[in-house]
Amino acid sequence: MADTTIQTTSVGEAIHAHHQEILDTLREHVAAIVAGEGHANPSALLAFLKGDLLPHAQGEEAHLYPAVDPLVKAHGTATATMMIDHEYITSYIDRIANVMDVTRALRSADSAGGHARQANLSTLQRLCLQLEAVLVAHLDKEERVYIPLLEMYLSKEEQQRILSGMHEASRTAPSDSTFPPQETWLDVRAIAPRQRHETIFDTFNALRSGHAFVLVNDHDPKPLYYQFKAEFEGLFTWTYLEQGPETWQLRIVRV
Ligand SMILES: [Fe+2]
Ligand SMILES: [Fe+2]
Repeated sequence: MADTTIQTTSVGEAIHAHHQEILDTLREHVAAIVAGEGHANPSALLAFLKGDLLPHAQGEEAHLYPAVDPLVKAHGTATATMMIDHEYITSYIDRIANVMDVTRALRSADSAGGHARQANLSTLQRLCLQLEAVLVAHLDKEERVYIPLLEMYLSKEEQQRILSGMHEASRTAPSDSTFPPQETWLDVRAIAPRQRHETIFDTFNALRSGHAFVLVNDHDPKPLYYQFKAEFEGLFTWTYLEQGPETWQLRIVRV
C-alpha cells in the first residue's frame, strides 16, 4: 500500500522510484508516437502528463522545494542544478558530434543502405530537438532567476567584471571546447561481443570518482547492469540517455 511504502522507504529512494516510473512511462509513449506505431496513444499520454506528471511537480512545489530551500542555503550550492544542465548540454553536443561522424562514414561508404542513413538522420533530429528543449529551459532559468539578482544586488562595476570575464572566456576558448568534465565515449558496437564486458569494466575501473563514461550499444545492456550491481553496488549510477529501438546510450558514473 502507498502509505506503508512512504513510511518504510527513504525519501531519496521513493522519489527516484517515482521519477523512474514517470520517465519510463513517458519514454514508452514517446517511442510509440515517434515510430508511428498502431498502439501509439496520444490521449493516454496527455492523461498521464496531466494526471501524474503535473501533480508530481505541484507536490514538489508544495512540499519538497520548501524543505530543500533552507538546506541549499545552509549546506548546498544554489547553482549546482544549473551545472548539471551544462553537463547535459555538453553530452548532447558530444552525441551530435558522434552522429555527425557516423553521417560522414555513411556518406563515404557506398554499401550503406538508405535505412542506415535514415536512422542516422532521425537520431540527429531527435538529439537536436532534445538539446533545444533543455537549452530553452536552461536559458530561461538563468534569465528569470540569476540575472535579476545580479542587476538588483551587484554594483555596475561588479556586473561589468562578470561580463568581461565571460567575454574573455569565450574569446580564448578553442572552437571545439566543452565544459569539464569531458566524458569518455565507449561505443561497443564495433567490439566483438565476447570482449565487450571486459572493455566496459576496464573503462569503469579507469575512471576517477565523480567521472563518467557514456556507453553506446546496439541492445539494452540489462545483464551488464546486474553484473555492475553485483560487483559495484553503491559505487555507480546508471542513467539511460537513449533506449532503442536501434541504439542504447547510457551514462555510467563512478560515484
Ligand atoms: Fe521530480
Ligand atoms: Fe548556462
